[in-house]
Amino acid sequence: LNGKVPADFDFSRYLSEKRAVINHALTEIIDRNFDDSRLCQAMSYSLMAPGKRLRPILCLAAADAVREPAPESPGDCPENAAEADGTRTCGDILINAACAIEMVHTYSLIHDDLPALDNDRLRRGKPTCHVQFDEATAILAGDALLTLGFEIFGSTAMLEPGSHPGVLIRVIGILGKAAGYRGMIEGQMRDMAAEIRRLDLDALSRMHTLKTGALITASVTIGALLGGGSSDQVRFLEIYAGHIGLAFQVTDDILNVEGDPDRMGKSVRTDQQRGKSTFPGILGLDQSRDFAAELVRNALQVLDGFDNRADPLRALASYVIDRNR
Ligand code: IPE
Ligand code: IPE
Ligand code: MG
Ligand code: MG
Repeated sequence: LNGKVPADFDFSRYLSEKRAVINHALTEIIDRNFDDSRLCQAMSYSLMAPGKRLRPILCLAAADAVREPAPESPGDCPENAAEADGTRTCGDILINAACAIEMVHTYSLIHDDLPALDNDRLRRGKPTCHVQFDEATAILAGDALLTLGFEIFGSTAMLEPGSHPGVLIRVIGILGKAAGYRGMIEGQMRDMAAEIRRLDLDALSRMHTLKTGALITASVTIGALLGGGSSDQVRFLEIYAGHIGLAFQVTDDILNVEGDPDRMGKSVRTDQQRGKSTFPGILGLDQSRDFAAELVRNALQVLDGFDNRADPLRALASYVIDRNR
C-alpha cells in the first residue's frame, strides 16, 4: 500500500511535526483563555491527553495537498500584509480550524465514554473525564469543548486579513453538520440502537460512516477549502476521506478485538462484552482487514490526479489501517 509514497518521505517525522504544531496551538488557546475552574481543568485534562491528533493533521495535510507553495518570506504572504507585529502567519485560520476539529472530537470522546453511552474508564491512557472528575462535570466539559471549537474558529477567522467570509461560513456549516444530527450524533444513536438490534453489513457501514467518517471527512474538506482547493479538488478529497473514514472505524473495531490496551490507552474487548455491532463481529478479523485495505486502495486511487503535495495524505491513508493505537 505504501508503494505510491516515495521512499524518501519521512512520514513519522511528518506526523510528529504536525502533532507538535497542533499541541502547541491547543496549549496557546488554553493558556490564553482558561482559568483554574473545575470546568476548565476538565476540558484541558481531556483535550491535552495524548491523542493521535489524526483529524487536525488530516486537515493540515489536505490544505498542503492543494495549496500553492508558501512564499519565500512571511512578508510576501498577502494575509500577513497588514500585520505589523509579525505574530500572525498565513496558516492561522487553518490551525484554528484544525484545533476546533480536535475540540469537537475530544468532546465526542468524553461523551462517548459516559456511563449512559459506552461506560468506559480509560481514554488516551488516563482515567476518562467522568472518572477523573464526575459525570456532571464531564457532560459540561464536553459541551464546553464543542462550543469552544466554534468560538475559536469563528472569532479568529473573521479577523484574518484577506480571508474570504463565504469560505469561513461554509467551514462552520460543514463542521456543524458533520458533528450533528445528520452526522456523528446520528451515528452514535445508531451505534446504541445496534446493541439491541443487530446490523447487517450495509447498515453497519452507514453507521460507521456517520459516527466516525463524518468528522474525518469534514476535517479533510475543511483543510481543502481553507487551502484554496478548486471545487474538483475538494470533491475528490471528500471521496478520499469517505474511504479512509470508514477504514478508520473498521480498524478501531479490529483493534478492539486484538489491540494492546497499554499502547492504545483504552480498554479492549469491550465491543463484544456490550454486544456492539462491529465489522469483526459480522465479517471476522481477516475479512475485516481485507475490507479496510480495499478502502485504503480506493482512497489512494482517488488521489491519482494529485501531485507529490498529496504524499502526506497518501501516507495517512495507509497509517489509518496500519496503526496500533
Ligand atoms: C477514537 O478516535 C474514537 C473513534 C472515532 C474511533 P481516535 O482513535 O482518533 O482517538 P484519539 O484522538 O487518538 O484519542
Ligand atoms: C467513538 O466510537 C465514536 C465517537 C466518539 C463519535 P467507539 O465508541 O467505537 O470508539 P472508542 O473505541 O470508544 O474509541
Ligand atoms: Mg461508542
Ligand atoms: Mg467508545
